[in-house]
Amino acid sequence: MDQRTLEEQLSDLSLGSIRYFGSVTSTNDVAARWAQAGAPDLSLVATNEQTAGRGRMQRSWYTPQDAALAFSLILKADKLDDELAHLPRYTALGALAVCETLNEALPPVLPAQIKWPNDVLAARRKLAGILVEAHWHGDDLIAIILGIGINIAPPSVPPPEKLDFPATCVESVLEKNVDRWSLMHSVLEKVIALRPHIQSPDFIRAWEHRLAFRGEWVQIYIEGQDPLEAQIGGLDMDGSLRVRDRMGEIHHLQAGEVQLRLVDSSLK
Ligand code: BTN
Repeated sequence: MDQRTLEEQLSDLSLGSIRYFGSVTSTNDVAARWAQAGAPDLSLVATNEQTAGRGRMQRSWYTPQDAALAFSLILKADKLDDELAHLPRYTALGALAVCETLNEALPPVLPAQIKWPNDVLAARRKLAGILVEAHWHGDDLIAIILGIGINIAPPSVPPPEKLDFPATCVESVLEKNVDRWSLMHSVLEKVIALRPHIQSPDFIRAWEHRLAFRGEWVQIYIEGQDPLEAQIGGLDMDGSLRVRDRMGEIHHLQAGEVQLRLVDSSLK
């Protein structure tokens, strides 16, 4: 891939500007600097490799060359209050766009799902992650950076010692080779189409419809608290995850620093 070819391939989408790199530290970091320097809305940073890719909760994100998709969209915030109130929905925006793209290719018995709040799974294994970061200038929200990483070919799956959840890649699930740049085109197209709806109840319903592990028991880890064993219910209208503990008490979890693990998972 190169800058000109990518621009041509994405020319039918209403993106801002595009910057392609053979290798970068993290597309989210490059996008953040570009946003501060005045990048237009829906500008895209894409790369073939990340040397310091980042995940949620200070984790690293593995992006070896030629095997994965790693890109970040700059979403300019013009309506400060609305954007702030709905920040967690941007994570769902990325996750839903990836899910919908994959579900056009996956057999219906193997749908892609969202492990709340930000992982995309297929066959109960993680194949994509979303990292949303807000950038400020004083009290002004400059931009929201929507970072998306997708494992495409087998070398993109991190080695077992780096895994905190079972992982896979698109080509292994589909059992065929995939053109990663046309997959990215489809994800971007869906982000653009879904974005105007992120404040609507229908958006939450679409997110809930894709929720992984509904009705299953999970361990919930919240920084600084004892782990909680609970059954996944659904989503509240603000995007919080509704769970029920062993005593029958209902909890409403905010995205933030929450991790879910399956109880009695047979996956390694
Ligand atoms: C996670 O699962 O914890 C989120 C992973 C997000 C990875 C993407 S790859 C593109 C963008 N740049 C980064 O450094 N991270 C995100």
